[in-house]
Amino acid sequence: MPFDYATRLKKIPPYLFVEIDDKVRKKRQEGIDIIDFGIGDPDIPTPSPIVEEVKRQLDDPANHRYPSSGGEPDVRRAVAEWYHRRFNVEVDPDGEVAILIGSKEGIANICRAFVNPGEKVLCPDPGYPVYSQGGTLLCDAIPVKVPLHPDKGFLPDLDALPSDAKMLYLNYPNNPTGAIAPKDFLWKASTWCVETDTILCYDNAYSEMTFDDYTAPSILECCQGTGAIEFGSLSKTFNMTGYRIGYAVGDANLISGLRKVKSQIDSGTSMFVQRALIKALGMYKGAEKPDLVKQNIKVYQDRRDVLVKGLRGLGFKIDPPKGTFYLWLKVDGSSMEFADRMLSVGVVCTPGLGFGEFGDGYVRFATTQPVERIEEAIERMRKVL
Ligand SMILES: Cc1ncc(COP(=O)(O)O)c(C=O)c1O
Repeated sequence: MPFDYATRLKKIPPYLFVEIDDKVRKKRQEGIDIIDFGIGDPDIPTPSPIVEEVKRQLDDPANHRYPSSGGEPDVRRAVAEWYHRRFNVEVDPDGEVAILIGSKEGIANICRAFVNPGEKVLCPDPGYPVYSQGGTLLCDAIPVKVPLHPDKGFLPDLDALPSDAKMLYLNYPNNPTGAIAPKDFLWKASTWCVETDTILCYDNAYSEMTFDDYTAPSILECCQGTGAIEFGSLSKTFNMTGYRIGYAVGDANLISGLRKVKSQIDSGTSMFVQRALIKALGMYKGAEKPDLVKQNIKVYQDRRDVLVKGLRGLGFKIDPPKGTFYLWLKVDGSSMEFADRMLSVGVVCTPGLGFGEFGDGYVRFATTQPVERIEEAIERMRKVL
């Protein structure tokens, strides 16, 4: 008899994305050419100056040893200096910064540090599944859905939130909707959290993946300074998902709890990767994105425009999102049925249901395909619509 999973693990719903992967694999086996807009994993390589820096750091034996789990002091300093240049926010690199093995790790571990079994955690729906699952459920806590409606710009209704929760996750620019949050909303949200004694976890993994004239703020620009922690990442800004490096910045008490959990579980991201962060964020000379990031974002912006134009040509109503590389498309009927129909012509999109019950009726496209493939996908979709 195989061992039974722990009760908390059994509460994690079957991973919809695994089911989709299986379907896609079968199609590939049937010889169908797949155009995959499914996973938010950049198809573009990491910019060569950063790859070269990782190689250089790898050559230094000092970087072969155990890192400290909360991040090396010079790397934390680089994050603090970047916050100053990019957001005009002052943070103490020793007490208010942690280096993460990708932001996902911190987003999950922050629950382990502060949420007790049975306590409520407010999780956006639709939303990145780690808030409710890897974070909340794996701590035996209770995820409470925070509906994000299109008529409210996919911002939660703060007045409707229960005031007895331990923690609130927010994420703008938003996965999966591509929505952005105005600063006055962020001020209201952070004030609400202080008044209700709720920890604010702000997921800013897409802070640099913004388009047109839009620049995303940090939550630390929009709060009194206590009770909020922000998660960021090099994954999308520099096409570095595979390196596993992110950071948490904010309230010293929240950072120290997170670092304490990490010290018991992991030994940090490898030092040669951590030190590449110094090079990457060092490219910012001020608040403005450096050329290398601008070029990267331009690729996603062009793809976004081609996909939006193509979808509009197919009769869909969709506005180009100001942030993230996702397009959140309203479809008729169930999102699963729509995604299956697209898969029949080799086009993979993610059913909105995978991001929560309020995601049904939508599908998500990640623009991780070159323009020619996007155009081809539109032609294939035309055949089944
Ligand atoms: C909203 C959001 N937050 C966090 C992450 C985690 O990114 P990473 O762990 O690579 O920093 C992702 C990844 O797709 C995401 O979509």
